[in-house]
Amino acid sequence: MTDDQPSYGTSDTSYQAAGELSGLINLCDEFYRIMAVSAEAKVIYAMHPGDDNLSSKKLAYFLSGWLGGPKLYRENFGAINIPCAHAHLPISTSERDAWINCMRKAAAMQPYADAFKIYLIEQLKVPAGRILQACGN
Ligand code: HEM
Repeated sequence: MTDDQPSYGTSDTSYQAAGELSGLINLCDEFYRIMAVSAEAKVIYAMHPGDDNLSSKKLAYFLSGWLGGPKLYRENFGAINIPCAHAHLPISTSERDAWINCMRKAAAMQPYADAFKIYLIEQLKVPAGRILQACGN
């Protein structure tokens, strides 16, 4: 690694790269705005309970701890196991891909370093894959 390529994943490097909590809130708000109007994401958007602001906040709070920042989801909503939290949902590869694509588009609109955008999406594919297994696919 060189100085201009931070090793994301170490300490809170990723949390900082995402712009801390305000950056994650922007990312997740954009993610749900995109999901709401994307034809590809119609099915997964319909699975959500309906309050996009709350869904966005929960995701931003989870990502905060997941990226090495404050564990805000746990502090505000309690413990969560991501695959188990999705096990009741009919998620297969097309739903997973729609979710990742919405996140890729949302990340593209953030003032993040290009390397971090790529890193973030690659990392999110890991829990997304575990969700797929938990959902029986
Ligand atoms: C694989 C594609 C995914 C789909 C289709 C999906 C879909 C959903 C849906 C429909 C909900 C609302 C569930 C409900 O209220 O019953 C939800 C909640 C949530 N998802 Fe996902 N999700 C995916 C991937 C992920 C990933 C990769 C993460 C984290 C890295 C994540 C984090 C969360 C969190 C934190 C919640 C809120 C849980 C709660 O407190 O109710 N999701 N997701």
